[in-house]
Amino acid sequence: MRTIDWADGAIELIDQTLLPHRLEVHRVTELQELIADIQRLAVRGAPALGVAGALGTALIARAHTTGDVLDLPSAQRDAALLREARPTAVNLSWGVDRALTRLTEGAEAVLAEALTIRDEDIAACVSMGLRGADLTRELTGKQSVNVMTICNTGSLATVERGTALGVIQTLFEQGSLTEAFPLETRPLLQGARLTAWELQRMGAPFRLLIDSAGPFLLSRGIADAVFIGADRIAANGDTANKVGSFSLALAAKHAGVPFFVVAPESTVDMRTASGADIQIEDRGTDEVAGFGGMRTAPEGITAVNPAFDVTPHELITAIITERRVVRPQLGETLAETPFGPLLP
Ligand code: MRU
Repeated sequence: MRTIDWADGAIELIDQTLLPHRLEVHRVTELQELIADIQRLAVRGAPALGVAGALGTALIARAHTTGDVLDLPSAQRDAALLREARPTAVNLSWGVDRALTRLTEGAEAVLAEALTIRDEDIAACVSMGLRGADLTRELTGKQSVNVMTICNTGSLATVERGTALGVIQTLFEQGSLTEAFPLETRPLLQGARLTAWELQRMGAPFRLLIDSAGPFLLSRGIADAVFIGADRIAANGDTANKVGSFSLALAAKHAGVPFFVVAPESTVDMRTASGADIQIEDRGTDEVAGFGGMRTAPEGITAVNPAFDVTPHELITAIITERRVVRPQLGETLAETPFGPLLP
């Protein structure tokens, strides 16, 4: 099943706020509905947001077409609203902008571009999985590994398969996964709700950890490698991802464990020089002060709630994309590392 797709003139997406209890597909025909779905994390994860941005632009182009005439200024105005629905994952604006390159050709051309982006995402995840699994065996020197991961970077964060969790799935399929240790991922529990659901469905061995146990358990040797996805990779390799990633990277360095960032090339933002230039979404007090409709903190308090943090490139063993492996700790850069073929 695809996390997000186009069917009969509408976007269909799995409503991730209902998982793991209910698997429901939401049909989206209006821009405002899509923006709301993005902001409440019904659809989430950087690559899935890229596809949502592109398919959303197709919806916009259709909505502003009368007969054969497309109202370009109105479509562009709506596209600007969509690209700003969430700020940190570059894929959202990337998907909108790429679909917009076909706007003057009409709504059907915009949709064709969006469907190409969807198909490329599927192929990219397969390729990242294969590259990542090979590199993991090479750098750990082990045929079967224990791995740690945070947030959800699986099929739910892409169209199919996923990025970091896609590598873990590939290791599992190749008989190279001993056990996975996903972190629950406060405050919205993407790890507990979504990654645990995906690992269970694939039949992979895993045990769930609370976030604060991750760094300590790395120091006790629980995992041979850490895998994270990315929302934006700056030109120098600094990587924004779910908050908690940075502390895992520090702990991985301390434990001498490789720390892998797995993301498609569409997450690389060469226009952003370093992590300091990445806008980090703050999701406000409510998500921290309560859960599932129940208040857990006293009324009247406020919270700081960054949805993401930035891992400096010095702490990253390798950035694995569908086309290459870049090793910042060996002095390799995104600007200079050549592209290879898609695998297989
Ligand atoms: O707030 P979310 O759930 O959209 O955050 C998602 C993440 O941080 C993922 O790790 C990232 O987008 C990569 S998904 C392949």
